[in-house]
Amino acid sequence: PDQSGMAYSVGTTLDRFIKFKQSDFPFASGELSQLLRDIALAAKIVNRETNRAGLANIGGAFGQTNVQGEEQQKLDVIANIRFMRALSKGGEVCAIVSEEEDAVIDLKNKSGKYVVAIDPLDGSSNIDVNISIGTIFSIYRRKTPLGSPIQMEDIMQPGSEQVAAGYVLYGSSTMLVYTTGFGVNGFTYETSLGEFFLSHPQIKAPKSGKIYSINEGLELDWQEGIKNYIDECKAKRYAARYIGSLVADFHRNLLKGGIYLYPATKNNPNGKLRLLYEANALAFIAEQAGAKATDGKSRILDIVPDSLHQRTPLLIGSEEMVDQAIKHIEKSK
Ligand code: AHG
Ligand code: MN
Ligand code: MN
Ligand code: MN
Repeated sequence: PDQSGMAYSVGTTLDRFIKFKQSDFPFASGELSQLLRDIALAAKIVNRETNRAGLANIGGAFGQTNVQGEEQQKLDVIANIRFMRALSKGGEVCAIVSEEEDAVIDLKNKSGKYVVAIDPLDGSSNIDVNISIGTIFSIYRRKTPLGSPIQMEDIMQPGSEQVAAGYVLYGSSTMLVYTTGFGVNGFTYETSLGEFFLSHPQIKAPKSGKIYSINEGLELDWQEGIKNYIDECKAKRYAARYIGSLVADFHRNLLKGGIYLYPATKNNPNGKLRLLYEANALAFIAEQAGAKATDGKSRILDIVPDSLHQRTPLLIGSEEMVDQAIKHIEKSK
């Protein structure tokens, strides 16, 4: 039962669950709940597009690069449009940061309390080969007064200020996993009913695990501490698992126990992953599930961003494994 004493259980619909959980925030007006429902609706639409991508001529490259210099896939662009639409029509959001938008989208919505950072389609290199992809989102409360123009302080908040975060995994089944800071819950999509149902209540990450996930092709560019830690994983005969879709790699390790690393490399001293719409959301979820997230030096959620698309090294997963990796990094300094 939640604080209102109402019970929910496996099989409760996402809508009902969100309603029950609203009592976690005694003075809440229901806008965050509505925002979560808007995101879930967009996720259903993207799920539909994803499922038929091979048939609908929406596979392949879009023909443009995003601000990161990455080649956009058609589905990157479609997912971005879908989420932008859902977030701007709902009325709860005042500003959006997206991987696929160069600048902050100021919705000029006078009643919007929330700022959303989103990776609409994560794992785009896997779209055309029918491998799991995802969506990642972070929700913040704006700092400046309602109705006034958006300021950088509304956007550049550390991850510790998130009021909610989640991801959607378009996998062998489609799941939505989210937290509002009171634990982590996972919902599985039932296609024929068009509903998400609670399937993974109160997810708790194993304290340790036997899986390590890293792009080992970049080994020659790692710093010594990372190399030593991965050598230790191999000495212990851990399993190497790397999908190349952050959401999918993270989700597996969260449930089974494991560590995901995207460290600094020679060419990319801040790694590859983006703080605002990749690392922060997953770090919040990790901590809520009893796991850990660091850039090798500091807690991800404590980093104060200084630019929109800033990258960060990311070590995330089972607490003991992340601690062990940090030990190696410190020893090799
Ligand atoms: P995106 O598709 O949103 O641009 O993210 C790509 C990210 C992430 O999903 C994945 O874990 C990582 O890139 C893989 O990078 P490498 O191909 O360098 O391993
Ligand atoms: Mn991309
Ligand atoms: Mn991504
Ligand atoms: Mn993306």
